[in-house]
Amino acid sequence: MPESRANLFDVTSRNAVVTGASSGIGLALSQTLARMGANVVLVARRAELLEKECDEITRLGGSVHSVDVDLLDRHAAMASHDRICEPFGSPDIVINAAGINLRESSDEVSWESWDRTISLNLSIPFFFSRLFVDDMKRAGWGRIINIASLQSLRAFPNGIAYGASKGGVIQLTRAMAESWSSFGIMCNAIAPGFFKTALTAPVFENEEVLKKMADSTAIGRNGTMEDLQGPVLFFASRASDYVTGQVLFVDGGFTAK
Ligand SMILES: NC(=O)c1ccc[n+]([C@@H]2O[C@H](COP(=O)([O-])OP(=O)(O)OC[C@H]3O[C@@H](n4cnc5c(N)ncnc54)[C@H](OP(=O)(O)O)[C@@H]3O)[C@@H](O)[C@H]2O)c1
Repeated sequence: MPESRANLFDVTSRNAVVTGASSGIGLALSQTLARMGANVVLVARRAELLEKECDEITRLGGSVHSVDVDLLDRHAAMASHDRICEPFGSPDIVINAAGINLRESSDEVSWESWDRTISLNLSIPFFFSRLFVDDMKRAGWGRIINIASLQSLRAFPNGIAYGASKGGVIQLTRAMAESWSSFGIMCNAIAPGFFKTALTAPVFENEEVLKKMADSTAIGRNGTMEDLQGPVLFFASRASDYVTGQVLFVDGGFTAK
């Protein structure tokens, strides 16, 4: 078998940048890519936590670097380009995993909290990705992976701003594909079901809701970080060469029921 076909899921020596990489899903995706040989830049606000995670990945043989930036500070976010490219060069793979869910009812939501949610969850994935698109175009190859949600399709209580932002992520993913895929840049989204992280901690404390979420899947359980490994390698590698503008629900069949 030709070598190029044998290594369809290979990400060795690819350069990746992952936002929201100090915890939860962003960290898990960073660990997977680093374990599989990619050079990974971890982006989030908490510098100490990022350094700790970098040390751990390095100890396990990974190639990583961290850049602390508050992505809600749009000037700082746009100025982070050079710091991100400094260790390994411009990223071939951009993963937009930074996100917030403020869990406010429609009565509680303020203009300020609405703007914060839409900015981080929807606007930043576009403007941050665009920082690296010219280099991807020159290389004729790139991957952008957004993180959607069950709330991209379904309305949950206290999720009006979050759901609006995540509904937008699906359409953003399609529009990115329309803009950039003719240059070899595949743009897709992973929509996780229910995974235990800081973001979902309030819900994981409630056994009843936890069981209800698990029972709502076809498989009968909530997600674990291992469940995201295959999907991210698919979207980050040549395996997805002809797949773009798509959303893969990694939700145990929640949206199938
Ligand atoms: N957990 C789930 O079940 C689930 C399901 C569907 C979708 N998602 C999505 O998955 C993504 C990751 O969420 P998670 O569950 O892994 O939650 P998490 O553990 O709370 O992670 C959120 C990440 O975003 C970063 N972040 C927050 N505000 C930021 C800012 N202003 N600037 C830069 N980074 C910022 C946080 O780092 P710092 O605090 O260090 O900045 C953290 O690394 C989100 O987009 C979320 O909507 C999660």
